[in-house]
Amino acid sequence: MSERETWTSRIGFIFAAVGSAVGLGNIWSFPFQTAANGGAAFLVVYLLAVFLIGFPTMMAEFVIGRRGEQNPVASFKNIGYGNWSFAGGLGVFSSLVTLSFYSVVGGWVLSYIVGSATGAYFGDAGAYFGSIASGPTAIAAHAVFMLVTIGIVASGVTDGIERATTFMIPAILVLLVGLAAWATTLEGATAGYAFYLSPDFGVIADNFWSIVPPAMGQAFFTLSLGFSVMIAYSSYLGRDDSLPADGGAIVVVNTLVALLAGFVVFPILFATGGAGGAGGGAGTAFVALAGAFGNLPAGGIIGFVFFAVLLFAALSSSISLLEVPVSYISENYGYSRATTAVAMGATIALVGVPATFGTSWLGFYNDVVFKLLLPVAVLLIAVFVGWVADTEAVDELGRGSTFGESFTTAWLWWVRVVVPFAVIVTLYLGVTALYEGLNTGAYF
Ligand code: TRP
Repeated sequence: MSERETWTSRIGFIFAAVGSAVGLGNIWSFPFQTAANGGAAFLVVYLLAVFLIGFPTMMAEFVIGRRGEQNPVASFKNIGYGNWSFAGGLGVFSSLVTLSFYSVVGGWVLSYIVGSATGAYFGDAGAYFGSIASGPTAIAAHAVFMLVTIGIVASGVTDGIERATTFMIPAILVLLVGLAAWATTLEGATAGYAFYLSPDFGVIADNFWSIVPPAMGQAFFTLSLGFSVMIAYSSYLGRDDSLPADGGAIVVVNTLVALLAGFVVFPILFATGGAGGAGGGAGTAFVALAGAFGNLPAGGIIGFVFFAVLLFAALSSSISLLEVPVSYISENYGYSRATTAVAMGATIALVGVPATFGTSWLGFYNDVVFKLLLPVAVLLIAVFVGWVADTEAVDELGRGSTFGESFTTAWLWWVRVVVPFAVIVTLYLGVTALYEGLNTGAYF
């Protein structure tokens, strides 16, 4: 097999990792989770989760990947702990499941780009959603989205992933800033900003335990943690960069994109009636926004740009999810990258088909990922880095870092104690909710 690829530059790695992080999670799910959980109160808890729990966890994944220099499964072996490969295996499996329904939503985005151009959703936003969210249209759009994802991953780490994200990330930033500037001119902007940005600490205190699981889940998901994406991406780092500096840059840009998305979405929602109708899960977000676009002057153009941004964001993430199984299968069994990308992509597309049967199926996939797989995967990584490979981890984090020994020591104890504690609480609350949902027939 040929020589293993590496990113062509440090900025190439950062763009790719930001591309993975910035996705439907930031622009679609973040504003609507915020709306559903009390606005600014959720924002505060979410930001704490991102910086206090997510950032240290991201460095834990970087340490495994750069040290292991292989796909997520083999990296554990390469560091000297082959019996922990199952943690990488869980990452491969979870990436596959996540991409299977992520791509269905990516397909919706495609349909909304078409709908913005043709005006198909202007009259009745709810009916349009109903017509594209399930059934043949949903399957076709899901297939197209997967095909594009496969095409990029098959082209390779530098020619595919790095090149695509180096184009898409700047485009996302420029277009979002433009949309946010336009949104300041809307009638409802002030009310939207107020809902978004003035935390009511009473609301936080009263609802803390119900805000924690979605805020933590959202933090892990938006940073692409747990499912070995950051292990895979950092394994292509050939050099001694500062992992804390790179991780910090990635977390900050990812957070800025989510915050910017709020500055676009909330004025739009409040211009046409408030955030009230937008909190109810997968579909309501699309219906609420599309309804607003249908009622605003030049809404078709604005909608087109908004959904184009969403498509770039979704694609720059979906390629990272496909990269995990592709790197594992191709390195482990010696198939070419292109063949593996096609085979894995097709498999994942099939696994996702039930999510096109209706939004309750999609909600089930989503909840299994957020409430079960994500916290379990993050817990395994924290325990591995904090307690099993701690010597190697400390050494690796110090390589190329200018942050000094006390930073590294503080990080280690944080990963040992604080991260697992926070994740176990989240896992308990999440699994209880999932179990309850299954028992009360919330899904099927
Ligand atoms: N972070 C992406 C988003 O916000 C989704 C994503 C990509 C992801 N890769 C991941 C989530 C790996 C968890 C694990 O949309």
